[in-house]
Amino acid sequence: MENQLIAEKIKKLKEERNAIILSHFYTRREMQDVADFVGDSLSLCKAAVNSKADVIIFAGVHFMAESASILSPEKLVLLPVPDAGCPMADMVTVKALREEKEKHPDAAVVCYVNSSAAVKAESDICCTSANAVNVVNSIKNREIIFVPDKNLGAFVSLHTDKKIHLWPGFCHVHDNITENDIRNLQDLHPDAAFFAHPECRPEVLNFAERILSTSGIVREVGSSGSTEFIIGTEREIVRSLQKKYPDKKFYPASEKTFCYNMKKITLESILNSLQNMEYEIHVPENVRVKARKALDRMLEIRGS
Ligand code: 13P
Ligand code: SF4
Repeated sequence: MENQLIAEKIKKLKEERNAIILSHFYTRREMQDVADFVGDSLSLCKAAVNSKADVIIFAGVHFMAESASILSPEKLVLLPVPDAGCPMADMVTVKALREEKEKHPDAAVVCYVNSSAAVKAESDICCTSANAVNVVNSIKNREIIFVPDKNLGAFVSLHTDKKIHLWPGFCHVHDNITENDIRNLQDLHPDAAFFAHPECRPEVLNFAERILSTSGIVREVGSSGSTEFIIGTEREIVRSLQKKYPDKKFYPASEKTFCYNMKKITLESILNSLQNMEYEIHVPENVRVKARKALDRMLEIRGS
């Protein structure tokens, strides 16, 4: 079926079901075109809470749909492709986190939202890339166990006096960007400003003019005086930026910045989701209540 026809069917069914589509910036362009809201992890959490819809179709990966379900248990949350996961989220388990907590009994656990509901339930507070520094600095404890992203944790440790115990997790999409990638692009485009996501390696972030979440990159590119940018995050965003700011030029930091899990979501899978009400995200109530506390604490932080 042609994309336009599928998009029309999606629109009609969405109204019939009182459903909304939330999409992350890394999904394919067509998903973002049918979505009611496109954003970063933090704004998607907020959109899920504020929505009056009965059904949320999540064009993103599993942990994002889980967060929506944790925050809005009265809504039916559907993930169009059930195995659209996040390899970084799978790099921390409850068992391993409990062992780490035993080693550092005075530490608070700050958990990046890119994690399972069960890991969130074991944590004191969640954070996203947009608020990680504020979240860590809001905590009374001097010691922090930061899971699962070592790169985001290392970035945060530069902006706090707390002792941070890093977890050895990483996002393969951002960790793929190398110093050489940036040097080569800067040679080719000497006037380009480098805006990077904090999931990149520390040595890559050293080159960055700004370090921002995906929403932050989209926003700040608009107010920047530069007209050319090297973008250090998943490359799909470059297409969105080019569309939003046609007078500016954008170069992906690396062609390898491809999140294949986000790309599993297709228009066909969204249509199937709406037709058959699948695949339902279910978080056990005992886990949901504890994970919700960690997410709520994050959402209460000023500047989040
Ligand atoms: P943000 O949405 O917080 O920018 O994080 C990017 C990401 O990797 C999401 O999976
Ligand atoms: Fe996970 Fe990285 Fe993909 Fe985000 S971009 S979903 S962190 S693998």
